[in-house]
Amino acid sequence: MTRRKIVAGNWKMNGSVESVVELVESIQANDAVDVVVAPSYVYLPLVAQSLTGSKVMVAAQNVSEFAKGAFTGEVSLSMLKDFSVSHVILGHSERRSLFAESDAQVARKVASTLEAGLTPILCVGETLEQREAGTTLTVCNAQVDAVLEEIGIELFEKVVIAYEPVWAIGTGKSASSEQAQEVHKGIRDNIARRSSKVAEKVAILYGGSVKASNSAELFAQADIDGALIGGASLDATEFNSIIESAK
Ligand code: 13P
Repeated sequence: MTRRKIVAGNWKMNGSVESVVELVESIQANDAVDVVVAPSYVYLPLVAQSLTGSKVMVAAQNVSEFAKGAFTGEVSLSMLKDFSVSHVILGHSERRSLFAESDAQVARKVASTLEAGLTPILCVGETLEQREAGTTLTVCNAQVDAVLEEIGIELFEKVVIAYEPVWAIGTGKSASSEQAQEVHKGIRDNIARRSSKVAEKVAILYGGSVKASNSAELFAQADIDGALIGGASLDATEFNSIIESAK
């Protein structure tokens, strides 16, 4: 089965009013690829407005697990829906390691995101220490399993997974296409043990130092269905080349 490629830019805590408008106006989407950009919360309305009439979709970088109420500093799913947000990045390693998000919390956020009708981009990935200890797949599949246990296999076909090895994020040191393919296949095989139909449908993106110079090789792998891009998504030329290479 051919899965449609997804190229998503995670802008993290970067940008200004001026730079996000310039960046978003420079993105060249095409009909063959789903393109998603994830600005900081405060720029979501501006980015959504700048993308009126465009096929480029908008993601948030996180969301509250709660619907509303006394949760100072949090943003809810209904607020995201007010600004045409279609995707939510969840469980990014920076959230897991710097903000202590647990597997269980991430799983609850995935469940609420699906319930709200948005697409979760569930990030999983191992640290260098875990890779060197040979536990890469155990770690990634445990992160996936926590979500599977929360939402069940049927709903899981609506989840997009992003495999992001922690050691490759922002380091300039991408996983090789073979290393990435091996993990993507291992994640897909784990899902297939519950349902081969769902496993075939789930998009698994790779993230970690993706650039225009390595994206085509990554995208050529059987189980790599696109990319979640940090640094290179802030550069319109790089990002457009990556989108082009996903065609
Ligand atoms: P880099 O592309 O900067 O390595 O970041 C990857 C990432 O964390 C995307 O979510």
